[in-house]
Amino acid sequence: MHETIWVLNGPNLNLLGEREPDIYGRETLKDVENILREQAFQQEVSISFFQKNGEGELVTLIQEARLKAHGLLINPGAYSHYSLAVYDALRAVSIPKVEVHISKVLKREQERRHLLTAAACDGLIAGFGTWGYSLGLNALVKLIRGGK
Ligand code: DQA
Repeated sequence: MHETIWVLNGPNLNLLGEREPDIYGRETLKDVENILREQAFQQEVSISFFQKNGEGELVTLIQEARLKAHGLLINPGAYSHYSLAVYDALRAVSIPKVEVHISKVLKREQERRHLLTAAACDGLIAGFGTWGYSLGLNALVKLIRGGK
């Protein structure tokens, strides 16, 4: 059976492609999903793709992932910088987790340079545009399969 990877996207990422394209690019979230689905097929993993604006909705999905997924790729959006609830949920889930940011958060406003939820993940990818999702999926497959 194929391993399952959940891809969770936080607030405002539904507007990818039209929202601040100079920062986030012109690709839509659907484009990202299509690219990941193709990659998942090649790497023989299954993916489920979600986007939620609410903090509680994200927490519920993270909790659910612990029972239904082998790995978690997450872009918590603005919650990344301050949500203790998302941080706690991630800590409670012991499957491999990678956080991704499209933009170069470490080069942006002071508030965005602080990354709280990433500290609960196995790795962080930031600043490579939407390609970061593919890099994150790759990393997760490696983490899940280990030496296999
Ligand atoms: C983001 C960076 C966050 O600071 C911002 O609030 C987002 C997107 C990124 O992918 O670059 O919504 O997570």
